[in-house]
Parts: sequence; C-alpha cells; structure tokens
Amino acid sequence: MRYTADGPLLVPGPVRIELPDGTFAESHRVMVALCLCRRSRIFPFCDTSHRKRRKQRRASALDSCAARGEDDGDGQVDR
Ligand code: FES
Repeated sequence: MRYTADGPLLVPGPVRIELPDGTFAESHRVMVALCLCRRSRIFPFCDTSHRKRRKQRRASALDSCAARGEDDGDGQVDR
C-alpha cells in the first residue's frame, strides 16, 4: 500500500471492499486508488476529485502570499 498526501490510498488489486451498508465494491485493476478525501463521485474509489481541492488550496495560498507581499516559491515577490 502507498499513502499519498491529500490523495488516494494506492493498494494492489484486485480488491473487494465491504461498505457500511453491507454492500461490496470491487475493482479488478492491478493498482486501485481508494478515496480518502470523500469527494469522489465513485467512492470508495478515487475519481481524482482531490486534485481540484489541491488546486484550490494552492491558488488560495498564492493569493495570501501576494496579499502579504511574500515570495510564493518562485523566487519573486508578487505585488
Ligand atoms: S482521494 Fe481522490 S477523489 Fe478522494
């Protein structure tokens, strides 16, 4: 297994997951991405919706840096 920060948990497939309602979700892929952010429309599997969240955070952080006149990581101060 491999945990990715702000992203899915990657597990070797195939997998069969019992959901809280007693039903099962299955994937026969070689590697399966399990959603940890709970934004996926195909939960419990990742549909990459977490990427949108990451981009929003980055844009928000860049806006904050620019508002404070700080370097946003590109070596330049945006004003
Ligand atoms: S971790 Fe990818 S959609 Fe939730």
